[in-house]
Amino acid sequence: MDDNLHQLRCFGCGSRIAGAQAQPNFRCAVCGDLFEVEYPGWIQREGPNRPNPGALKWLWRERRCSSEALDQSGVWRFRELLPILSSFGNAVSLREGNTPLYHLPRAAKRLGLDQLYAKHQGMNPTGSFKDTGMTAALSAARERGFEWVACASTGNTSASMAAYASRAGIESLVLIPEGKIAWGKLAQAMDYGAVTLQLKTDFDGCMRLLADIVRQAPIYLLNSVNPYRLEGQKTPAFEIAEAFDWNVPDHVIVPGGNLGNSSALGKGFRELRELKLVARVPRISVIQAAGANPLVRSLNETRGAVLEPMEAQTRATAIRIGNPASWRKAARVVQESDGWCLDVSEAEIAIAKAELGLEGLGCEPASAVTLAGLKKLRAQGVVHSGQTVVLVLTGHTLKDADYTIDFHRGTLLSDEEKLGLEKEIEPLRRDAITVDATAAAVLEALKGRVG
Ligand code: F0G
Repeated sequence: MDDNLHQLRCFGCGSRIAGAQAQPNFRCAVCGDLFEVEYPGWIQREGPNRPNPGALKWLWRERRCSSEALDQSGVWRFRELLPILSSFGNAVSLREGNTPLYHLPRAAKRLGLDQLYAKHQGMNPTGSFKDTGMTAALSAARERGFEWVACASTGNTSASMAAYASRAGIESLVLIPEGKIAWGKLAQAMDYGAVTLQLKTDFDGCMRLLADIVRQAPIYLLNSVNPYRLEGQKTPAFEIAEAFDWNVPDHVIVPGGNLGNSSALGKGFRELRELKLVARVPRISVIQAAGANPLVRSLNETRGAVLEPMEAQTRATAIRIGNPASWRKAARVVQESDGWCLDVSEAEIAIAKAELGLEGLGCEPASAVTLAGLKKLRAQGVVHSGQTVVLVLTGHTLKDADYTIDFHRGTLLSDEEKLGLEKEIEPLRRDAITVDATAAAVLEALKGRVG
């Protein structure tokens, strides 16, 4: 690994180490905080080594027409801004990234917004945004010669890790909270050949245990405490900026769980501004489920100085996290970008998910918190009609089909959760009904709707 190009800087105390010197749990030996990758050669410094913005924009767009595997990746297409490998030949790619940015005409109309979009990260190879980070960190694992990688997960990280590890011929270990992840994700980890262990604890318990395990065995940790994950996950910020011809949208809204994604997107936009590829950074808002809202509490109660871990509870299992690892980084992103951090109820999540479905864009419940959060921000009058807003949809709808079916059958939400929102919920429900196998019965079911 050529550590001249990048180094790790502790987010807490600022101490710097070479990439190869990181402890197995990726915590700072001085203060215990997490690291960020920095590029002293050119990102931080003025001077002749700075990349030329116009040339980079041209190069990145050109690569979209290339038949080279690395150029076809929406992460490695931007490799000048993530020189974390000594040889890009070590990159393990499934052609991640380059995900679609969809206009949301119906939600925009309802909310009185002109420009509302969804960046659908669920359209990645394993169906979630994790692939953009996994290609980067798994490639680092391969370059360092690891034969085993591991993660704790609410499901998507494990699905992604298992796939990339198998591509690279590396063994993978998955720790998941028993009974608390969606079936689609569990199926993926098995399909891609991971050793999958279900533990009688929650996600936070799995994380704690894994930090201990990687100190005792030569296993490379692939949770988002690994700073290389965030290097890959910052690239959707580049794609968003590129899609708007390098005029960033006013506002980007992301779900918050372990808080790696919001941290990474914030870093991506910050670096674009430092390199003068864009003139400003968008507001970045983080939305959590009300039953798993430690960052909301931290920002409201202590302005982000302290985070009190909590026992998390939500049907949006991807973000059922009470002690998020990257909370300090995410708090800084929200504060520096002048964004908001708020929470939404179980019913608000379910409604927003069904509304996105009716735009022809399914997503995971965890992704739908973004639309639910935007509705709240609009109601509070803080997002204005002329503003351009991008919702980051993090996972594919097929990841958690049980959730969708329960919603449409009417068994997802309790009466208490639905209270006051029944009129919004009922028209969104589309239960599958059983009828006789005759034309008459089918036409009867359509009565009043066709013609
Ligand atoms: N949306 C989905 C679909 C997720 O899977 C996750 C996190 C998030 C949002 C939250 O992102 O953690 O970066 O703030 N899933 C992790 C996992 C924790 O293990 O798959 P975050």
